[in-house]
Amino acid sequence: MHTDIHQEKVVVLDFGSQYTQLIARRIREQHVYCEIHHCNTPIEKIKQLEPSALVLSGSPFSVYDKDAPHVVPEMLDLGIPVLGICYGMQLITHLMGGEVASSRTREYGRTVVRPVAYDTLFSGFQAEGKVAVWMSHGDSIKKAPPGFAVTARSDNDHVAAIENRKKRIFGVQFHPEVVHTPRGTEILRNFLFDVAGLSGLWTMRSFIDTEIARIKGIVGEDRIICALSGGVDSSVVAALIDHAVGEKLTCIFVDNGLLRTGEAERVNKVFQGHFGMDLHVLKAEEEFLSRLDGVSDPEKKRKIIGNLFIELFEKEAAAIPGVKYLAQGTLYPDVIESVSFKGPSATIKSHHNVGGLPDVMNLILVEPLKELFKDEVRVLGRELGLPEEIIARHPFPGPGLAVRILGEVTRAHCDILREADVVVEDEIKSAGLYDEIWQAFAVLLPVKTVGVMGDERTYDNVVALRIVNSLDGMTADWVRLPYDVLARIASRIINEVKGVNRVVYDVSTKPPSTIEWE
Ligand code: XMP
Repeated sequence: MHTDIHQEKVVVLDFGSQYTQLIARRIREQHVYCEIHHCNTPIEKIKQLEPSALVLSGSPFSVYDKDAPHVVPEMLDLGIPVLGICYGMQLITHLMGGEVASSRTREYGRTVVRPVAYDTLFSGFQAEGKVAVWMSHGDSIKKAPPGFAVTARSDNDHVAAIENRKKRIFGVQFHPEVVHTPRGTEILRNFLFDVAGLSGLWTMRSFIDTEIARIKGIVGEDRIICALSGGVDSSVVAALIDHAVGEKLTCIFVDNGLLRTGEAERVNKVFQGHFGMDLHVLKAEEEFLSRLDGVSDPEKKRKIIGNLFIELFEKEAAAIPGVKYLAQGTLYPDVIESVSFKGPSATIKSHHNVGGLPDVMNLILVEPLKELFKDEVRVLGRELGLPEEIIARHPFPGPGLAVRILGEVTRAHCDILREADVVVEDEIKSAGLYDEIWQAFAVLLPVKTVGVMGDERTYDNVVALRIVNSLDGMTADWVRLPYDVLARIASRIINEVKGVNRVVYDVSTKPPSTIEWE
């Protein structure tokens, strides 16, 4: 019998803070399962979740704003420990009869707070007598609610923490979840383990055991298929299903000719070679390129690639008897109904992936990763024995090189980009930077510029380098790559990749730009 790893569950109510997902990740790092729910979630639904503790996130709002997100006061009366972070603490104060004031001095950035009680959230801080924290607030607590004690103050003499020990309701004005609060994890641990009395049973090993049992129960005697892309998510899904019901799983890999160098070989080597899976590789470069012939519009490219993928996948799957389920690598950030995180970027491009498949094929979806964040998926993949070359791989878009070749997609263009991409990856790896970077790739621009090579004038293509850091792909910043690394990449591309005589560096952030160029 496997243990119920969801016995302990912390619910984070999201009021729109940019840090909400970070709170959940920090809690999970302590081996406590944690879910994010929209602050508008009815209290009955929250009760049904049977949470062991509640965390109220921060928010860009002031509690007095007309549209400020609130909860019913009974939410604080569920008999479970509550931690309010920043806005969460102000909301507790507001709802429980204290006073929140708009403050003249806005506190933003690093600051120091001094605890006055050391036996709950600040246990372990006695020796230092102060805590370095990250603040980001305008409003502050003027008067703690009745029954609450002030447990820390900032150097500006603002209330930095409150508690009602009897009701087990706590609030901090700062953000313990961010790295700029160096001992923030200890404060969260104090809340989870000392105050809430949790034990931290949620590990990837226990997750695997639970999921294997669940998948076995679902699939039974039927067959399940999985669209492998070579990326981390679909690879981990395939490996997990393989552990659960290996003989019932068929993986389909569509080689659309828009992949990076060696991708098809790598997938074959790992999944057929190492795992011995039933893997169908569809070689479809010709079909994809001929349908893309003459097409330059980015949305049209995405549609063509998505539709053809579905068409080929469906045909292949139809030939496999007894298929009832489709495994998909949906992640937690895709399913959270958060206030802030979907953002407008979700609809800017048609991120097709295999979204259309279950509808057209009448298949039942199995999404074993839908409770996990990307970094947890990587841990899971390692536990399942996937090689590092797959686990640590940078994300790669479904439509592949087609959205990195501006204008028309031809075999020649794909080849140029593949060669340039090898150089980028190679140099980033040699510099020891690959694992620190979210994505690093080349983009082929539909412009030609003049150059000189030896005594010859050249008139060739421009390659742009897109090298960004990001936490989740939703926002991104360009990497301040050392000049010598940039110089090596540029000179190698110009010297080694025929057809390119100029390299430029993209220094745009997302937003307002996107990571991919199309
Ligand atoms: P953008 O370009 O929207 O990209 O800033 C954000 C992240 O998503 C990846 N991306 C895609 N992934 N199918 C995918 O599976 C797609 O159509 C797609 N388009 C963009 C992109 O590489 C980045 O990591």
